[in-house]
Amino acid sequence: TVVIPLLSFFSSLSSGLQGCRRFQSSAVNYNTMLLEADSERLYVGARGAVFALNASDISASSALTIEWEASPEQKRQCLLKGKDNKTECFNHIRFLQRFNSTHLYMCGTHAFRPLCAYINEKTFVMSSQPEEGRDKCPYGPTTGYTALIIDQEMYTASQFEFRSFPDIRRNSPSPTLKTEDAPTRWLNEADFVGSALVRESLGSSTGDDDKIYFFFTEKSQEQTTSYSHSRVTRVARVCKGDRGGRLTLQKRWTSFLKARLLCSLPEYDFHFNMLRSVFVMPGHTPQDTLFYGIFGLEWKNVKASAVCRFSLSEVQKAFQGPYMENQNSGFKWKEYTGKIPDPRPGTCITNALRARDINVSTSLPDDVLDFVRRHPLMSQQVQPSDKRPLLFRKTTDYTHMAVHTSQGLDGQMYHILYMGTDEGWLHKAVEIEGQLHIIEELQLFDEPQPVNSVLISAKQMSVYVGSPSGVVQLSLSNCRRYTSCYDCILARDPHCAWNGAQCVDIMTHTDRSTLIQDIQNGSRGCENTQDDVALRYRSVRVGDDVLLQCELSSNLATPIWTLGGHELQGYGLNSGFRTGTDGLLIIEARQDQSGLYSCYSVENNIKVAIVSYNITICLDLPPPPPRPPPPHPGPLLPHSELLSPRNMQAMYLSLITILGGLCVVLTVVLVYVGFCLRVGNRGKYSLRTAAAAYPNNKRHSRNRKQHRSSSHMELKTISSNCNGNGFLQIVPGEGHPSPNKEPPPPAPPLPPTVQLPSSVCDIPNGLSATLPSVLRRMNSNSYMLLRQSDSENTSPLCYSFAEELNRILEKRKHTQLLPRPDESSV
Ligand SMILES: *[C@@H]1O[C@H](CO)[C@@H](O)[C@H](O)[C@H]1NC(C)=O
Ligand SMILES: *[C@@H]1O[C@H](CO)[C@@H](O)[C@H](O)[C@H]1NC(C)=O
Ligand SMILES: *[C@@H]1O[C@H](CO)[C@@H](O)[C@H](O)[C@H]1NC(C)=O
Ligand SMILES: *[C@@H]1O[C@H](CO)[C@@H](O)[C@H](O)[C@H]1NC(C)=O
Ligand SMILES: *[C@@H]1O[C@H](CO)[C@@H](O)[C@H](O)[C@H]1NC(C)=O
Ligand SMILES: *[C@@H]1O[C@H](CO)[C@@H](O)[C@H](O)[C@H]1NC(C)=O
Repeated sequence: TVVIPLLSFFSSLSSGLQGCRRFQSSAVNYNTMLLEADSERLYVGARGAVFALNASDISASSALTIEWEASPEQKRQCLLKGKDNKTECFNHIRFLQRFNSTHLYMCGTHAFRPLCAYINEKTFVMSSQPEEGRDKCPYGPTTGYTALIIDQEMYTASQFEFRSFPDIRRNSPSPTLKTEDAPTRWLNEADFVGSALVRESLGSSTGDDDKIYFFFTEKSQEQTTSYSHSRVTRVARVCKGDRGGRLTLQKRWTSFLKARLLCSLPEYDFHFNMLRSVFVMPGHTPQDTLFYGIFGLEWKNVKASAVCRFSLSEVQKAFQGPYMENQNSGFKWKEYTGKIPDPRPGTCITNALRARDINVSTSLPDDVLDFVRRHPLMSQQVQPSDKRPLLFRKTTDYTHMAVHTSQGLDGQMYHILYMGTDEGWLHKAVEIEGQLHIIEELQLFDEPQPVNSVLISAKQMSVYVGSPSGVVQLSLSNCRRYTSCYDCILARDPHCAWNGAQCVDIMTHTDRSTLIQDIQNGSRGCENTQDDVALRYRSVRVGDDVLLQCELSSNLATPIWTLGGHELQGYGLNSGFRTGTDGLLIIEARQDQSGLYSCYSVENNIKVAIVSYNITICLDLPPPPPRPPPPHPGPLLPHSELLSPRNMQAMYLSLITILGGLCVVLTVVLVYVGFCLRVGNRGKYSLRTAAAAYPNNKRHSRNRKQHRSSSHMELKTISSNCNGNGFLQIVPGEGHPSPNKEPPPPAPPLPPTVQLPSSVCDIPNGLSATLPSVLRRMNSNSYMLLRQSDSENTSPLCYSFAEELNRILEKRKHTQLLPRPDESSV
């Protein structure tokens, strides 16, 4: 599974998030969003307010607002209840849905005393006094909760009151229905994340009922030897026509059943046991409904996500299979093998039952209801499609997602996933043959913050992302971000194609015969296009170490180097060459290593020339180095200066002073970083938990990484200066849950990977290993950084940063490199 974003775009870059629109107000926590298929309006519930935004442009000034804040008196009482007046004692809108053709219905926590109210859609005002919301809305802003209004009946699932049991309820019509607590508790500390109505009555030959599915994580009941997780993910369902039992299960669901949802890496028997969110994808018929789930781990300090997809038929299969039974001892659950009463417990009222005069659930026989009461859990587990995740990604916590289908030029329908992270990034991925290919990642906010909701409007061709600080609207595609034919094709974005000159949105082209796209293979169509290759001249002294930089624009590309047209083979210890993600290192240059070096980016078996260097290695450096046509002089470290003996001396002196410790150097770097950012107003950065990123505004210096090792942190450098043209970043390694599926394109041979000990330096903020990847690869010699000349303005401060970076690179050779324990062995 290819799980590395191909391209990365940063929020502060106008180029990256072109066409992005934002809505912000004085309110915070824009968590509840409502958008209907033909909607012109996006409704957003925040803390203390509800907004109606123009869905085609949410930043337009036409926003309508309903202010609904808890009264000071209510806030005071909330404080008296011991609640947090910075988070809980506010009116957080938790529910906002259509009630009927003219009205919306909303519920808010109202400083720990939930209330609900109708909204007149046309005038966008509250149409009545708020009413009691105790049974419809949770008390806190973060309590697990999901609710639906179906035919003006409200289905809610949450842990409603303080210390009560979780519950799935229908509040109207009478009688209200609930889940059962005794003798068998149907729900155990359930944390609800989603629900869905599936109209299974439509076209049903058996006269089946519509069903409501609930998705949650709960405390595990079944403790068998094969897994010992304390929490498990579940799907439960009830029938819409359920009216409860007559004596047994009076005012209780007679159709409640639940089953375990599995999302695991089978080859490691590794389970993702926390469900974070669910996206329900309607199909052509209700039977084709798909459920996408984002799964995570129970351990708060370990980031990892998996995306699994379940088909309705798999879920139905589990509900038609054997039941589990609770042995008398209380905790032992095992498959029930005894006689199952008739009609089958937990099924909806169907034609077969109506024929037996059972028209409503109250007519169900007692033995059936008693069985339902004691057997809420199914024995079969619901397996995801292909029995494995579509995506497994370490070090990223996805929070919410939405899925859109789009037809490629090949006529196939593709699923495109928009997944938000806990740090405010949006990943766009396309599913190709059961695997997700991440097309790009977008940083939505300057400040890291969780994505709390994601919605898609096919009509507006927009994706809307809600977060604590505001709402962002992006177009579903922005093909212009891909500036070359190869970028356009390799992205494999079903929305985009190359028209010979530009990467364009295929929707805007009626004549598609001339467009080039290759979603399946991501490789064909650019053979006849030619990009100009930069040629740079360098003169180097014999015995120096030289780094020839090569910026690969794609995160998935690997570099290949040629010297005089011949591929450099085996960058082994004695070859005199090393490669890293940065470029090629010539170690102790010899005169016979002079020549024309070319760097190619290889991705998907496509080789694209990136840069060439004419390297002259001479015994003594001529005083003014010949630099026939340098596009710009090397701004950070002009090599004439760098290579002068005086400078060398100074450099080694400074090196010695640095030997005090890597930690110190890193700290200094960080201080410089911060300083640069404050001084250079163009440079901004975002701190990810494990990454300090300097957004750059040059396309060619986007981050990239090598795609070789599956189980460790990947560190890398990116050409750096403080004017936003470069940055230093750690990019986490990715897991490949699918070892037997199509491998990534073969990487050129590289020296054995030596990994940094995780304890090199324990600087807080997770920046403990802010070292470039080359550090791992080159461990014997010092070298110099010859920069590509590509930036305009530099400040003295940035020189310092670059020097510091060099010193780190220098320092590396003195660092004892130790293998690092496999990250996955948590
Ligand atoms: C929404 O915005 C679009 C484009 O800015 C505009 O044409 C349209 O009239 C607006 N709709 C409303 C209801 O304001
Ligand atoms: C919260 O309550 C404390 C007293 O318990 C008070 O000092 C503080 O100002 C309150 N904060 C807010 C935001 O109301
Ligand atoms: C929708 O519900 C509201 C609130 O109950 C009611 O006032 C209104 O008349 C209803 N509208 C229609 C068309 O039924
Ligand atoms: C059940 O419904 C059928 C037709 O829908 C009707 O003929 C029958 O009398 C009903 N039985 C009861 C017990 O209501
Ligand atoms: C993709 O490549 C495979 C072989 O590499 C080939 O069989 C297939 O036809 C290609 N698909 C497309 C759409 O080009
Ligand atoms: C490299 O540059 C030198 C000096 O400018 C020139 O003599 C030589 O022909 C160049 N080599 C190649 C392969 O372009």
